[in-house]
Parts: sequence; C-alpha cells; structure tokens
Amino acid sequence: MSDIILDCDPGHDDAIALLLALASPEVRLLGVSTVSGNQTVEKTTANAIRVLDHVDRAEVPVAAGADRPLTRARHVAANVHGETGLDGPGLPLPSRGPGAQHAIDWIATTLRERADPVTLVATGPLTNVALFLARYPELAAELERVVLMGGAFGEGNTTPAAEFNIWADPEAAQRVFQEGLDTTMVGLDVTHRALMTPAHARRLADSGRAGKLVADLYEFYVRFHSRAYGWDGAPVHDAVALAHVVDPSLLDTVHCGVVVDTGPELSRGRTHVDLRRASWEANCQVAVDIDSERFLALLIGRIGSLG
Ligand code: BDR
Ligand code: CA
Repeated sequence: MSDIILDCDPGHDDAIALLLALASPEVRLLGVSTVSGNQTVEKTTANAIRVLDHVDRAEVPVAAGADRPLTRARHVAANVHGETGLDGPGLPLPSRGPGAQHAIDWIATTLRERADPVTLVATGPLTNVALFLARYPELAAELERVVLMGGAFGEGNTTPAAEFNIWADPEAAQRVFQEGLDTTMVGLDVTHRALMTPAHARRLADSGRAGKLVADLYEFYVRFHSRAYGWDGAPVHDAVALAHVVDPSLLDTVHCGVVVDTGPELSRGRTHVDLRRASWEANCQVAVDIDSERFLALLIGRIGSLG
C-alpha cells in the first residue's frame, strides 16, 4: 500500500481522482492539499471538503495552499469547471474549513510524522509543490515519488503548445521537473485517449451516492469537451494519474528528459519532451500509452464500490 497526499484544484476530474483514492485499498490517503487552478484556492478548498462530506469522510485532513502562481497572473478555468469550480451537482456548502496550517507546512508535518515514504499525486498547477521544495529542501528525500497530471508531448489544451496545469504556473513546474525527484508525468497524450462516455455515466448513476455524484459531475464537465473537441465523452485527466499509483500497469512510460518552457505566451508552459532520449538527461517517466478499457473499468468499479 502507498501512502499518498493528493495536491489538487477541484475541479471535476480532481474530485473524481479524490473519490478513486478513497475507494482504492492500494493507497492510503493521508490528506488533501489544495491550490489555485481550476478556481481560486478558496473555492478549490471548499470543493475538496464538499466532496469528502458527500462520502462521509470528514476525518481526511484538508490544507489550503497557494492562492496564485509563483510569478504569473492567476487564470482560472471557469470555462471548463464553472464559477464554483465544481458546477453541476449542486453540493451543499462545506461542513468545515481547512486546517490551520498552510498546505506546504502541513505536507512537511505529515512527511516528518510518517516512517514510510510518501507519494505526492499532484493534479493541479505545481505551485504548492514548488513552494514546498523551496521551503523544505531537506524533506524532498521523504517523497517516494511525484506523480503529476500535466503537460503533453502532443497538442496542448489551453494553447496549442501547453496543457493547463503547466501553463498556469510554468515556473513552478520547471522547478519540480528539475528537482531530481522520481517524477512521472501523466499528460494529455494519455488522458485524451480514455474518455468517460454517457454509458459509463449511466452505470455510475445507478451505483450509489458516490457514483451519482460522478455522473452529475460528468454531465456538466462533458459539455466543454463536446464543444471544444466534438467528443461524446470526457477525459478524466486527474483520475488517470491517481489510477497509475493504484495500478502502475495501466500506463506505459518512457524515462526521458522534460524541460518546461517558461517563455512568453506563444510557448508558455510547453513541456518539451525528449522522447527519443537523444538530447537531455532523463528526469521523468513520461506516460506514452494507456490501457483505456482497464482504466475505465477500474474507475467505474471502484467509484461504484463506495456505494
Ligand atoms: C487539467 O487541468 C484541469 O482543468 C484539470 O483538473 C486537469 O488537472 C487538465 O488539463
Ligand atoms: Ca486538476
């Protein structure tokens, strides 16, 4: 079993990743840290708690983190996730606020308390992770690995060059990729190949309270993907990263060099990936293929098991 921390910006697919973590005996969720991304950190924090409330998991710690990127202006993804960041299901207000510690201090405390190494699953902009590494360099070794949803070696989704999480805070991402950690990048190249369909949503809707929530999330979230891509389905980006920790065999990866473009808008947030391993020293496992059917079967089955 892996001890994990989920650093996220819920966000529909972050919420689904969170439910997958709660439903998977292969991982022990130590807590959730939140970051500005799909919406402001106030909203992403409230959303993490609203999802935990929905499945009666009030004991899971939630720590709020960075309210803006390291150096760039904040841009939220209301066009994808709505004004609340979790539009659609109409969840009640959160039952509690976040813990007193800032996310990066809570991560440090948690790592110090654990005897075993911890996997950090990052499914939002990498601001918290970069701040943590800057503030607590001595604790980097306590991280077994970082599995992040972000980037693409193909087309981006925020600009032709860049995926949202990396585009939102490229300086933070570059810090994380350059840190010498065991890092896995789960990008659009694989997440766009595993679409949740209306048939999956119907099965989830009939499977219980958690499944109904995911079906309601899906109904809102799929609209962006129908409009933008013409798909009759939606990728569940962040859940793919989480699923990789649950079952590493779902993804094929290539160990190679990744450099984040911190340049101006045209190339901002591009993840340059040396897939042929011709130019740069390897610093990352990059996901290049996915067993989509097995991923979706795992996701639907596990969420359904929450009842
Ligand atoms: C990523 O951006 C966000 O909109 C999603 O939650 C996901 O983490 C996909 O580009
Ligand atoms: Ca996210």
